[in-house]
Amino acid sequence: MHSSDFGKDFLWGVATAAAQIEGAANTHGKGPSIWDTFSKRSGKIKKGHHPTEACDFYHRYQEDVSLVKALGFTVFRFSIAWSRIFPLGNGALNNEGVLFYHHVIDECLQQGLVPMVTLYHWDLPEALSKEGGWTAYAINSVFNDYVLFCAKEYGEKVKHWIVINEPFGFTSLGYMLGVHAPGQTGVHNFFDAALHTAIAQADGAKILRAEVKDAIIGTAFSCSEIIPYTQSSQDLTAAKRVDVLMNRFFLEPVLGMGFPTADWEVLEKFSISHSTWRHQERMKFDFDFVGVQNYFPLVIKYNAFIPVVQAWEVKAKNRKVPHTAMGWEINADSFYRIIKQFAAYPQVKNIIVTENGAAFHDKVIDGKIDDPERTEYFKAYLAEMLKAKNEGVNITGYLAWTLMDNFEWAEGYQARFGIVHNDFKTQQRTIKQSGYWWQEFLSK
Ligand code: NOJ
Repeated sequence: MHSSDFGKDFLWGVATAAAQIEGAANTHGKGPSIWDTFSKRSGKIKKGHHPTEACDFYHRYQEDVSLVKALGFTVFRFSIAWSRIFPLGNGALNNEGVLFYHHVIDECLQQGLVPMVTLYHWDLPEALSKEGGWTAYAINSVFNDYVLFCAKEYGEKVKHWIVINEPFGFTSLGYMLGVHAPGQTGVHNFFDAALHTAIAQADGAKILRAEVKDAIIGTAFSCSEIIPYTQSSQDLTAAKRVDVLMNRFFLEPVLGMGFPTADWEVLEKFSISHSTWRHQERMKFDFDFVGVQNYFPLVIKYNAFIPVVQAWEVKAKNRKVPHTAMGWEINADSFYRIIKQFAAYPQVKNIIVTENGAAFHDKVIDGKIDDPERTEYFKAYLAEMLKAKNEGVNITGYLAWTLMDNFEWAEGYQARFGIVHNDFKTQQRTIKQSGYWWQEFLSK
């Protein structure tokens, strides 16, 4: 398998996110984000880590963009930290923050890389969180102001946009389970946040369409193939509920199908209480690409003790199947199947895999960062993606997660996903063997 097997216009990139790499959390007028404040709460992040310095990308972006180029990628995906532009979320503008993203974009363009910009990758300005954050409808107008600003400011130079990263990820982890910022819990908060996010996703896309000439607009969904533990009717329906929640709940409103209420009665109640039908048109947008982000499948078993969803994940290690350092099952076939599941919607006309990758406990052997498992992971997942593509799925790009080891949210700095190693004490970058594998792969 060579990269040329995917066609000459195929987009190959690496994906990153502001809060995970930038650092400079209090530098040059940046306002605090919910991750800055959440990480100060004791016990929330492993080892008490925080994103204050991260990879110091803020000061080292030139070196890092050069690395992306040197490895042979053509796309660099990064996100804009909302509170670097508007420290309080709206109102006063921080010119130094605005300038920083111009510098990053210009660096990409000078090096011949396509900048792909994510507008929201989980780092809500803290000031907005105090007003309810994603649970408050007021978020929608300020989000739109922020998008409008970015579109006007950067739209001449940036054509590839991702409106929101993994809406299910941050609304469930941050507003229902409380394990991510802002640490809220409860089904109500989740549903409120989900509705406003679904609206923001389409509103943001419409603003980009109106403002940016030749924009290529996408949004990025987390997804996992859901496999029932047994064929019992209880396990089958539990698996179906999880599929509704994780894979369909955010995608289908965008496609004009509304929330998938027919397949799960709890959603019916949510839909009635929020009159979601009123927003059906507003949540719809004809995206130029759908970003698919997949890491692992989930095996699901019925469990009456789990509130609402009544389902339980049977972990990979308990099933004794290969898994990453995160405990995530390595299963490339299931990547193929979830791509097919998304591609089966006639409205999905183009897929870009906007994230895929793995964390391992990398070893240093003779001064080299040896990570054969990561290379094998990429090879296997790429082969399955190629199979889907050869069967006719319109996949036009793939972005590896991620350029370098970084702040992995509640896992802190311990979970290493990079194809470049980062020493967080010295900020020294060292290309891992998997990075060299990518360089070789992309050269052919
Ligand atoms: C999804 C998220 O978008 C990204 O921020 C995260 O680091 C990776 N998955 C790995 O967990």
